[in-house]
Amino acid sequence: MNRVYKSDEWRIIEEGFHPGRNRESESIFSIGNGYMGQRGNFEERYSGDTLRGNYIAGVYYPDKTKVGWWKNGYPEYFAKVLNAPNWIGIDVSINGKPVDLSTAEISTFSRILNMKEGYLERSFRLNLPGEKSVEIDSRRFLSMSEPDAGIIRYSVKSLNFEGEVEFNVYIDADVRNEDANYGKKFWKEVERDVTSGDGVIITRTLKTNFYVATGMCWELLKNMKPVKVTPSVISRKDYVSNTFRQKIKPGEELTVIKFASILSSLNNQKESLMKDVKVRLKEIALKGYDKLFLSHKKEWERIWEASDVVIEGDMDAQQAIRFNIFQLNQTYTGKDERLNIGPKGFTGEKYGGGTYWDTEAFALPFFLKTADQKVARNLLLYRYKHLGESIKNAAKLGFRSGAALYPMVTMNGEECHNEWEITFEEIHRNGAIAFAIYNYVRHTGDRNYLADYGIEVLIGISRFWSQRATWSENRKKFVILGVTGPNEYENNVNNNWYTNSLAVWTLSYTLSTLSEIENTAPGKYREIIRKTDLKSGEETSRWKKLIDDIYLPYDRDRKVFLQQDGFLDKELIPASEIPSGERPVNQHWSWDRILRSCYIKQADVLHGIYVFEDKYDTATIRRNFDFYEPMTVHESSLSACIHSIVASRIGNLPKAYDLYLRTARLDLDDYNNEVGDGLHITSMAGTWLAVVEGFGGMRIRDDRVLFQPLIPEQWISYSFHARFRGVLFKVTVTHEDAIIKNLSDKPLAVMVSDTELNISGSCQQLFKL
Ligand code: BGC
Repeated sequence: MNRVYKSDEWRIIEEGFHPGRNRESESIFSIGNGYMGQRGNFEERYSGDTLRGNYIAGVYYPDKTKVGWWKNGYPEYFAKVLNAPNWIGIDVSINGKPVDLSTAEISTFSRILNMKEGYLERSFRLNLPGEKSVEIDSRRFLSMSEPDAGIIRYSVKSLNFEGEVEFNVYIDADVRNEDANYGKKFWKEVERDVTSGDGVIITRTLKTNFYVATGMCWELLKNMKPVKVTPSVISRKDYVSNTFRQKIKPGEELTVIKFASILSSLNNQKESLMKDVKVRLKEIALKGYDKLFLSHKKEWERIWEASDVVIEGDMDAQQAIRFNIFQLNQTYTGKDERLNIGPKGFTGEKYGGGTYWDTEAFALPFFLKTADQKVARNLLLYRYKHLGESIKNAAKLGFRSGAALYPMVTMNGEECHNEWEITFEEIHRNGAIAFAIYNYVRHTGDRNYLADYGIEVLIGISRFWSQRATWSENRKKFVILGVTGPNEYENNVNNNWYTNSLAVWTLSYTLSTLSEIENTAPGKYREIIRKTDLKSGEETSRWKKLIDDIYLPYDRDRKVFLQQDGFLDKELIPASEIPSGERPVNQHWSWDRILRSCYIKQADVLHGIYVFEDKYDTATIRRNFDFYEPMTVHESSLSACIHSIVASRIGNLPKAYDLYLRTARLDLDDYNNEVGDGLHITSMAGTWLAVVEGFGGMRIRDDRVLFQPLIPEQWISYSFHARFRGVLFKVTVTHEDAIIKNLSDKPLAVMVSDTELNISGSCQQLFKL
């Protein structure tokens, strides 16, 4: 654990500059608006270690796959979200000497992420030669109300000297991805235009041909009053800039406001990008900094009003949960069904910005409960639109007749992951995608989604399970061989309990959905049968057999579900016996040693218990938790949150709290020593679930919201907002009672512990605990 940032309710504060942890801080101080994101890089030049990065949602490059041993079925490429042209650049020189924090004498430094209002602020004082002191402040945000707009206010103040400040405001399109497989640059300049006052570069991605226009304009203020300057203009390949100088006296402040607009061919015609971006620059500059900031701030107010979590009595937990909610909302706004949520969002290159099962298993439940139902629906539609590709993907692996295998990692529906034990074997992702449809319907009540879209996906996935399972004459059961469960510290195992459970669940859900549609919308049913060519008798009777006869590994002595066949042959040694210097094991042990050990990277059986909790009694859940938790090393960010929820479910509050802190501050305290690569955006959703489903005990059951609230002893109280079927409500839990306040005008059907009731619109109800 590395504690670097100060505790604060609404802000992340770094005091003092730590060049050795600059990459880590750049990830933490990332800003975004769902359409694009920017790491916490400096505007001015910086010659120290940095990972410069800003990313535009949906703009990617298919980087040629790099593998030692090619396997048939591997994808040709690994898609990467691209480090896009640098729009933040403002170089500064004072009396001819460039400001560079790597070489400067820094007297004070702070970087603050204001999560309430959604901006990044940096402020530092430098001692210049000849006892001169200067203060530099910058503030920037990516507008939540005008998603193509990025705005920077950058001020230089002389504290005690007379001199000259030079600003060079620029756009640099000579950018690369650090993770490029063959060191290639992925962009090509198409056009550039620069005048005294603005500049635009249009670039296109190689192969994928996305066009991006990055435009800037600026204004200069002295002591907050506009000043006219005539800049000199630089225009060279991949670079445009405006340079200007101003005299400064003690106490005077020069401020550059830089407005940027970033448009891409995802939303604009390629041919009109130059014209469009210039129009946008005019509109943005006309509104001006204050107006733009105000409307941006209002958007954040709206988000917080519907999703804030307040924890009284524990500042670290409070700060962490807001950080997580903030980052999730910066990453995905749910307005565009072509976009999704990369595990690192827009905060780094790792995982290529592609879509993983993380979306359905973690992010979707968060957005289902905190945002308008359109947001979650767009996440589902993203997969619906990829059904054709998933059918092709399955066909490539030898499956037939419309069986769909969704990719492990994707941008456009095509698989781009290429480790055989994951690409071909981590098929549980298909189950998470099916379950997400059910989850959406039970939260929103939107049953039309099933007939309109969901059922086609369910049929494709069910066909896959049906062909992937084989009959074992030996066991007289259906088995699913050669898989990797969520626990990636085991590969190529037979009968992963979680995967087998999801497979049969999908088959049952598909059958019940089909009969619901047949009864309620027979015309639609016929259309679906025709469209999917479903062989009702033949195919569905095999599904029924599978449901009845699937093999689910179980240990009769311990009465626990077994993660997979043969798990009990391992030496079962608790993780507490691993010397602390050898944790995380994935940074110290050989892969071979990890695979042979009993150590579990992330929730696997317990993830299944979390998903299908209704099926198991508390004693069963407790036995499985007590068996697996001691062997789980939580080396995936997606693990501790699920264990925390299960621990709350069985009333093990100290453990639930411990695991909660670990998941909540995973990035802020850099538990796994890897935050420099980017933040764990999708696991942040799991953290939120650990409060709402874990401590709050929120469940959806029989068209009601159920609560079974608990409160960690470290907290005085906590409250959260959530939604169910269009009703927004707030739950406040203290050690004595829970209050549910209906914030909408429709009634809310709830059940707390064993009491059932309807809370009318705008009313609240108190329950004694
Ligand atoms: C986890 C996967 C996850 C991926 C992206 C891996 O470390 O094991 O479950 O999908 O990270 O978050």
